[in-house]
Amino acid sequence: MDNKQLIASELAKVLTSLDQEAILNLLEQPKSSDLGDIAFPAFSLAKIERKAPQAIASDLAQKIDSSAFEKVVATGPYLNFFLDKSKISNQVIQEVIKEGSNYGQQDQGQGENITIDLSSPNIAKPFSVGHLRSTVIGDALSNIFRKMGYNTIKINHLGDWGKQFGLLMVAYKKWGDQKAVEANPIDELLKLYVRINEEIKNDPELDEEGRQWFKKLEDGDPEATELWQWFRDESLVEFNRIYDQLGVQFDSLNGEAFYNDKMDEGVQILEDKGLLKESKGAQLVELDDYNLPPALIKKSDGATLYITRDIATAMYRARTYNFVKNVYVVGQEQSNHFRQLKAVLKEMGFDWSDDMIHVDFGLVTKNKQKLSTRKGNIILLEPTIQEAITRAKNQIEEKNPDLENKEEVAHAVGVGAIKFYDLKTDRRNGYDFDLEAMVSFEGETGPYIQYAYARIQSILRKANFQPDPAVDYSLQDPESWEIIKLLQDFPRVIKRASDNFEPSVVAKYAISLAQAFNRFYAHTRILDESPERDSRLALSYSTALVLKEALRLLGVDAPEKM
Ligand code: ARG
Repeated sequence: MDNKQLIASELAKVLTSLDQEAILNLLEQPKSSDLGDIAFPAFSLAKIERKAPQAIASDLAQKIDSSAFEKVVATGPYLNFFLDKSKISNQVIQEVIKEGSNYGQQDQGQGENITIDLSSPNIAKPFSVGHLRSTVIGDALSNIFRKMGYNTIKINHLGDWGKQFGLLMVAYKKWGDQKAVEANPIDELLKLYVRINEEIKNDPELDEEGRQWFKKLEDGDPEATELWQWFRDESLVEFNRIYDQLGVQFDSLNGEAFYNDKMDEGVQILEDKGLLKESKGAQLVELDDYNLPPALIKKSDGATLYITRDIATAMYRARTYNFVKNVYVVGQEQSNHFRQLKAVLKEMGFDWSDDMIHVDFGLVTKNKQKLSTRKGNIILLEPTIQEAITRAKNQIEEKNPDLENKEEVAHAVGVGAIKFYDLKTDRRNGYDFDLEAMVSFEGETGPYIQYAYARIQSILRKANFQPDPAVDYSLQDPESWEIIKLLQDFPRVIKRASDNFEPSVVAKYAISLAQAFNRFYAHTRILDESPERDSRLALSYSTALVLKEALRLLGVDAPEKM
């Protein structure tokens, strides 16, 4: 039984005016652990029983059966419970040992599907830090949902359609060079795209040409299709290099183009339900009732839009995956788009529109300035990842020059550092992209946690420790107790992260656990001969196991040696 439940059931035996559920909801954590582990505040009883809360608390302290606890003490208006540290520490450690990496696994999801729209960069455009955030957050959420018993489908909804491809074709045919594109696809294609947008200003005819080429593409013209395919393939080669570095995989690469021939059904429903209004030749859905601007579904020339494709996409996902949740990990700047999308689908009569969640996130800055290609304040992802790995390697050289697989470890630390820094931030907040802070071994960083993990592994190797389910691993000291409470909390932490679509809950937890272990380590000679030696090793073992699992949920590797 969970600690709070134990307390609530004991309290319920001596309290007539509140039921167990109500008591459970009142339980809180004392401000300091010297005061106890869990507190019952007597304020709300004061009104019911017409007595001072202090009197109620001391009265309860007399009546309650305290044999299941270390002690139960009334302190002012609170009844403070001190849990039985010896008993609970052994229980928790044995449970972690027994479950192994399965510890914290839950069945809330019952194997139901959650679709996760993540990463979703645009073909022929650079992979931005926003796409990095989406990739890293989406991947972590997928791991967290799986730990809650859901099945996840990670969909990279590539931005591979739109009028810009027509313009790009015109630019390529005029100024492009196949070899240059092959050598540096996104760079070259972006240059072409920027150039044509410049030249359009003097030569509006180019815009019309672009429109025609896009029309050709939409009509399946072989030359246009071949060029489009080529741009897409070349861009993907580049994106895949980044995904390889990050160690992220997808279940589907169905992007915008996939929905070209799937939009009619949605538009037809809108029409049948009388939801389409005409305005200057364009078709739109009014969303006044939702306090939103109208959603433009078709332009006056009949062209479809981003949202038109997203309507088809959502319908396809509902049908194909029968999701319990359809999650979109996309930056805050698209909030209105997703509100409109949800509202339109609601109007269309799809109840599952309630299960669509825009998991939004804030902007990344560099040197506290907004990123801007124009002002040269940009983050080029591949060189940046490389730089993180190099920095990690330099620190490893310094700390442990004899380490065997330095390259591999440097990769895990460098990439882990970038991911962890992103994930520890409440996702709605932005952050400043500061490589030095990210890769630091001190502070609230990925390397700090990885280092704590590797330190434990080294201790366990020295002791040649093997956990034994028959041994009693009880501990009583305050440093161990802080760790025990955290270990016990892990399943709830995962649930909270899942319910709030917030990987930072897991990241912050991992920081607390690593810090608690380091305090224990500073205080205790773990390897010294002592009656508690085995318990201390078992506690270290369990801590390492949970640290590794928390990092895994965040998509961060934990090297055995560092
Ligand atoms: N490609 C878009 C962008 O880079 C993100 C797509 C998000 N997913 C979606 N289903 N709309 O801004």
